[in-house]
Amino acid sequence: MIAKKTKTVFAARQASVGFGIIGTGMIASLHAKAITAIANAHLVAVYGNEPECVRRFAEEYGVKAYFSLDEFLADGEIQAVTIAVPSGYHGEVAIPAARAGKHILCEKPLEITLDRADRVIQACEENNVLLSPVFQARFSQPVRMVKKAMQEGRFGRMVLASAQMRWFRNTAYYTNSTWRGTWALDGGGALMNQAIHTIDLLLYINGAPDTVFAFAGTLTHSIEVEDNLCATVKFRNGSFGTIEVSTSCAPGFPRRLEFSGDKGTVAFEEGKITRWEFTEPLPGDEDAKNNFSGAGSHGGRNPAHIDSIGHELQISDLADAILTGRKPFLDGREGRRAIELISGIYESARTGRPYKFNS
Ligand SMILES: NC(=O)c1ccc[n+]([C@@H]2O[C@H](COP(=O)([O-])OP(=O)(O)OC[C@H]3O[C@@H](n4cnc5c(N)ncnc54)[C@H](O)[C@@H]3O)[C@@H](O)[C@H]2O)c1
Repeated sequence: MIAKKTKTVFAARQASVGFGIIGTGMIASLHAKAITAIANAHLVAVYGNEPECVRRFAEEYGVKAYFSLDEFLADGEIQAVTIAVPSGYHGEVAIPAARAGKHILCEKPLEITLDRADRVIQACEENNVLLSPVFQARFSQPVRMVKKAMQEGRFGRMVLASAQMRWFRNTAYYTNSTWRGTWALDGGGALMNQAIHTIDLLLYINGAPDTVFAFAGTLTHSIEVEDNLCATVKFRNGSFGTIEVSTSCAPGFPRRLEFSGDKGTVAFEEGKITRWEFTEPLPGDEDAKNNFSGAGSHGGRNPAHIDSIGHELQISDLADAILTGRKPFLDGREGRRAIELISGIYESARTGRPYKFNS
């Protein structure tokens, strides 16, 4: 994490990207905290569709308030925008932002269907702006360690890669929102909204899927999308896996991923590595579990219980990419992978048949 103190000390010397935030809700506040905490970015303005919230937000962070998207996008001090509006509106603001020449950090999911995500990616490519879809969990230390172990071939032949998200959301979480739990604006339920991070990690670490088969149902909430879903997956590398996701499991637990090969197995729950065993141990293996033994904050019980560290690292990476002319660590193509798997899972649940992905 880049501490505030570092920002103060180096702010005068280091180049900094001007950001504007679109939206003033829960995750927009986290974006503002993250942008103001990092050294290579600063917050310029905010735009939203609720004028009173925009005024309050702008006052809290000492930035410009905009009530028109066109005027916000015409502000030359804004080099990049973060998109923090309901998922089904992401494209509606991302495409004009790309056309206005703004680089984009877009909350997950990039969009709620593959076609719509592709239109955002295309608009960014055509207008030469960078796009970074948010998957802040990829920046966590356990994820980096497991990815490295996979790249080094430490697992041997991969056999199983599984993900479990047993979370809890109360009735008010859905009834107090105009968009959560709807196909039109959430694009799905427990899988598309909450578990998309877990799906992204599964793909990031174990690679592309070949075939899925799924069951989905709405068991404890009055919503039109699923609150519980189970899927089995065959991956292109020949391994198998299970995906269990829920927003009905009281009182809610950290998400868990486990990867096994014929030479090793690793499991982690949020920021805590719970299993790290290889047939060919390396120095440092013993410390893997001890180094990250903190429980870590997680959204399993309360959606607001996420810290801003992952967002700080991802926004800082995007700002650095803008300043140096490189690609961001997470780009549009990476952001669409989870949407593709989720779409296939929904299609299997809907038809009652396995869904095979094009290779
Ligand atoms: N990365 C994460 O861990 C994480 C966590 C929570 C939410 N999210 C994502 O962030 C997005 C927003 O979620 P939230 O929980 O902040 O929602 P929210 O309901 O708290 O806030 C939504 C905001 O968007 C504004 N808005 C709605 N429609 C708009 C429009 N057409 N134009 C401009 N502003 C508009 C609303 O006024 C509100 O300020 C969603 O896509 C969600 O999936 C990501």
